[in-house]
Amino acid sequence: MGRPAPGTLTVMCGIVGYVGAKPALSVVIDGLRRLEYRGYDSAGVAVLADDKLATAKRAGKLANLEAALAERSWPESSVGLGHTRWATHGPPNDPNAHPHVDCTGSVAVVHNGIIENFAALRTWLEGRGHELTSETDTEVVAHLLEEELHEAGGLAEAMRRICARLEGAFTLVAVHSEDPETVVGARRNSPLVVGRGDGENFLASDVAAFIAHTRQAVELGQDQVVELYRDRIAVTDFHGSPAPAREYHVDWDASAAEKGGYEYFMLKEIAEQPRAVAETLLGRVGEDGTLTLDEMRLSDDELRDIDKIVIVACGTAYHAGLIAKYAIEHWCRIPCEVELASEFRYRDPILDRSTLVIAISQSGETLDTLMAVNYAREQRSRVLAICNVNGSTIPRASDAVLYTHAGPEVGVAATKTFLTQLVACNLVGLYLAQVRGTKYGDEVIAVIHQLAAMPEKVEQVLGTVAPVRALAGSLADAKCVLFLGRHVGYPVALEGALKLKELAYMHAEAFAAGELKHGPIALIEDGLPVVVVVPPKRGRGPLHEKIVSNIQEIRARGARTIVIAEEGDDSVVGYADTLIAVPQAPTLLQPLVSTVPLQVFACELALAKGHDVDRPRNLAKSVTVE
Ligand code: M6R
Repeated sequence: MGRPAPGTLTVMCGIVGYVGAKPALSVVIDGLRRLEYRGYDSAGVAVLADDKLATAKRAGKLANLEAALAERSWPESSVGLGHTRWATHGPPNDPNAHPHVDCTGSVAVVHNGIIENFAALRTWLEGRGHELTSETDTEVVAHLLEEELHEAGGLAEAMRRICARLEGAFTLVAVHSEDPETVVGARRNSPLVVGRGDGENFLASDVAAFIAHTRQAVELGQDQVVELYRDRIAVTDFHGSPAPAREYHVDWDASAAEKGGYEYFMLKEIAEQPRAVAETLLGRVGEDGTLTLDEMRLSDDELRDIDKIVIVACGTAYHAGLIAKYAIEHWCRIPCEVELASEFRYRDPILDRSTLVIAISQSGETLDTLMAVNYAREQRSRVLAICNVNGSTIPRASDAVLYTHAGPEVGVAATKTFLTQLVACNLVGLYLAQVRGTKYGDEVIAVIHQLAAMPEKVEQVLGTVAPVRALAGSLADAKCVLFLGRHVGYPVALEGALKLKELAYMHAEAFAAGELKHGPIALIEDGLPVVVVVPPKRGRGPLHEKIVSNIQEIRARGARTIVIAEEGDDSVVGYADTLIAVPQAPTLLQPLVSTVPLQVFACELALAKGHDVDRPRNLAKSVTVE
């Protein structure tokens, strides 16, 4: 097999490290189970015992590794690490699984990210007689550590030295049998967080891995190396100088990251949406009755200077941005562009100090979005992050942050975090309108009251989705589903189609209903399911009647129409093969209710096809490679 091009065998994965009195192997496996949403192409562990390194790794889900572990006895150990992998290219087989070891079998390393110069390093290592047995970029790290350990006098110093030679984004965690008391980690543009316990410490890609043991976390900065011992941690930069690290308390407990009686996380997370919306709204109105965003960190003067807003995001977060544009432009009268983060910096966008860039990211780790943030800051624009994960990379790279309070989202498909992103975008839009005076205080508060009514409406949707389940079951064999919407209903349609693609692996496409006659209507044929999101009748001018005409047009051509419209909207009854009624809501807030049946639809259709909705094929929760 030919050698892959640089960066083609990289991973965005889940990493766990442990030092303490508990059996390391079970702590690591338990942590990996909680991180499996990050990647499930392969899994592996390494533990240190009796000055020896023991490793195991297997392609496929964690269960395969657990079966392999059960086949032999394992030494008692209090130091270990583990990995779940998401491979971008190349076979997710046993040799490519992590950990990777050096030639002596004394160093084991796991990695998340891309070592961009790995091909050159590999050639250099092979020239020095190292035998590399996998196709990954990661393996060079094990051999580089082997080289440096001769001189460095310890794993941490060897790690610092090799990090200076690596290009790209990476989290690395390693153990060395001659340093039996420690696990060493390093990070650059890739997540790694420390869990500080009592007589034990943890390293992980995400606090979910150690939340059952401790809720004290330590944030690592860029280009830092951490040494983990039972009773202390030491953080330095890549040159060995002590580095500051912020400690914080994780404000949710282990049960939040467990299924709590649901068969899938996704089902639980859909059900949690009313609470997630309510929590994101909590405490936003100050004693003086005005909207207050404590974390905003941008002064009112800075916000008044803004003459353009650019929203950057990926996937579902991008759809939240598309919806936000309508509210922000309407309330604030500032031009607002929405751009896929992966395209943003490559088109030479026009940015300056008076541009506000809003980066929306559930995980706060999406590399495309992070790179867009870095680019915007280089152009001296101000950056506000909307994020769900405290202390993650994107908020830290931004000037300001507004956290959504959805709690941990484990299912790969974004659900509750989407709704909370919509709420957060509304709050930002209202805050700007308040500061810039484009809305009176009482108008701002009136919308806040409308938002405050949304959790109950979402709850109502959840209580009436049984017919959506039945509908999904009847469409399990459909080849394709189309989605139509207008105004904010268009991004809702996009989100509905994305959910169906990622969960049910079906062809699904969304169109702005007004575009139908410009081409897509040719797709309509007998029995084709078409989901139509209908805006409220009271809303924007003739929008409602136009979409009712669109429904008639597709029905006349044989489409099976599935219509989402608000309760009491009789005008669509005659044209809907299936009518899904959602509670009445203001036009700009309707996505908070109209998205929910689409999430349920995609989830149930995927379940009807026998898919794992928490871990759809080929996907991972945090996309930490470009
Ligand atoms: O963590 P982020 O919000 O930055 O993630 C962005 C996308 O990768 C994410 O929304 C993705 O599209 C979801 N799997 C969709 O359900």
